[in-house]
Amino acid sequence: MRERYVIIPAGGSGRRMGGDIPKQMQELRGVPVLKRTLDLFLNLPFEVHVVIPINDSIKGMWTDYCRKHNVYLKYVLVTGGMTRFHSVRKALRYVPDGVSVAVHDAVRPLAGPEWTAGLYEAAEEHPAVVPVLPVTDSMRTVSPDGVSSPVDRSAYRYVQTPQVFHSEVLRKAYGSVAYSPAFTDDASVVESSGVPLYLCEGDRYNIKLTTPEDMALARALIDSGIVRTTL
Ligand code: C5P
Repeated sequence: MRERYVIIPAGGSGRRMGGDIPKQMQELRGVPVLKRTLDLFLNLPFEVHVVIPINDSIKGMWTDYCRKHNVYLKYVLVTGGMTRFHSVRKALRYVPDGVSVAVHDAVRPLAGPEWTAGLYEAAEEHPAVVPVLPVTDSMRTVSPDGVSSPVDRSAYRYVQTPQVFHSEVLRKAYGSVAYSPAFTDDASVVESSGVPLYLCEGDRYNIKLTTPEDMALARALIDSGIVRTTL
């Protein structure tokens, strides 16, 4: 079995969420979102090494939280970059070749543990494992001048994290492509370096917490027991 790592990009400022506290550090039923995401990986039934790219303003809040709550965990904190792409590229310096490395947004704390473990299993065989969900709403393309037309939704998928890669493949991709704003995830970076993606089924409750309404939804999913955050 390959050794297992996770990079949890937590370097964003979380502006869309509003408020003074960035979304990674907002509390969800008393526990900061980043702590919940970290715990997901630390509680898997195998060891996972953790690297967290985080920006300096959030780092202070995070270390204060850890001190206050006696959180002494084995993980590496790295100063984040200008964009998610740059944060992941910096974090990769702390991940060796020959391992499986997941990249999972700090703001997706509700991913199911069994489902997450299954992605690492799939990465024993496939170098780039990417969870996706079918689109259930109708979809349209809209041109810059506002003209819209329907598209065949069966041709589209929502893409989630964690995406799990062979570390040497991810490093080569990040080392060989120039940054583009089109790189909103790691799968697109890896694919642009010529590596085929293995798509597998996503987890519908693994929502990305972006707006205050998403936090309310996350609270409801936890309170109702619909999501279980530990095995
Ligand atoms: O804002 P966006 O949707 O791209 O954020 C996805 C993830 O990337 C978040 O967990 C955020 O903290 C992280 N990020 C980062 N470094 C940045 C910008 C975003 O690690 N410079």
